[in-house]
Amino acid sequence: VQALPEGYTIRPLQRGDYDLGFLDVLRVLTHVGDIPKQEFEQRWEEMKGGAGGYHVLVILDGQHKIVGTGALIVERKFIHHLGLVGHIEDIAVAKDQQGKKLGLRIIQALDFVAENTGCYKTILDCSEANEGFYVKCGFKRAGLEMAHYY
Ligand code: ACO
Repeated sequence: VQALPEGYTIRPLQRGDYDLGFLDVLRVLTHVGDIPKQEFEQRWEEMKGGAGGYHVLVILDGQHKIVGTGALIVERKFIHHLGLVGHIEDIAVAKDQQGKKLGLRIIQALDFVAENTGCYKTILDCSEANEGFYVKCGFKRAGLEMAHYY
C-alpha cells in the first residue's frame, strides 16, 4: 500500500465516526436514509474488531473528516478446503476528493486484509461505469451478477 496524500490517514471504522461524516460519504454511493446515532452504534457493535468477518475502513483528511470508505466481508466456505472468500462492498469517496487515488488506496488496504486473513480470492460487483477503476486496482471481469430484490 502506497502513500496517502499528506495528512490523510486510513483506519478501521470507529464508534465515533457517525460524527465525522461517515454516512455522508456513503451517500455518494446510494440511498442511506436517516439513521439515528444509536442505531449506527448498534450496527457498529455487531461488526467491531472484524466480528463476523466485517472489516470497514475509512480515510480521513487532514481535518479529521471522513472522505472515503470501503468494506471487506470475509465469507467462510466448505469448498476449497474450508476456503475463505473476500467480498468488497460499499466503496465511496467524497465527490470533491475523487481522483486523488483514495479509492485505489482503500482497495489496496482491503486486499491486504483479505490476503492476510487467508482469502484465496476477493470478488465484487460494480457497474460498467466503474469497471475501469477496478481494472486499475488489479481486478478483472469474471462472471455475471444476478439479483432478487424483496
Ligand atoms: N472509470 C475508469 N477509471 C477510473 C474511474 C472510472 N469510473 N474512476 C477512477 N478511475 C481511475 C483513475 O483515473 C485512476 O487512474 P490512474 O491511476 O491512471 O490515474 C485510478 O482509477 C484510481 O482512481 P482513484 O483516484 O483512486 O479513484 P477515486 O478515489 O476517485 O475513487 C470511486 C473511485 C470509488 C469509484 C469514486 O469515484 C466513487 O466514490 N464513486 C461513487 C461511488 C461508487 O460508484 N462506488 C463504487 C461502487 S462499486 C462497489 O462498491 C463494489
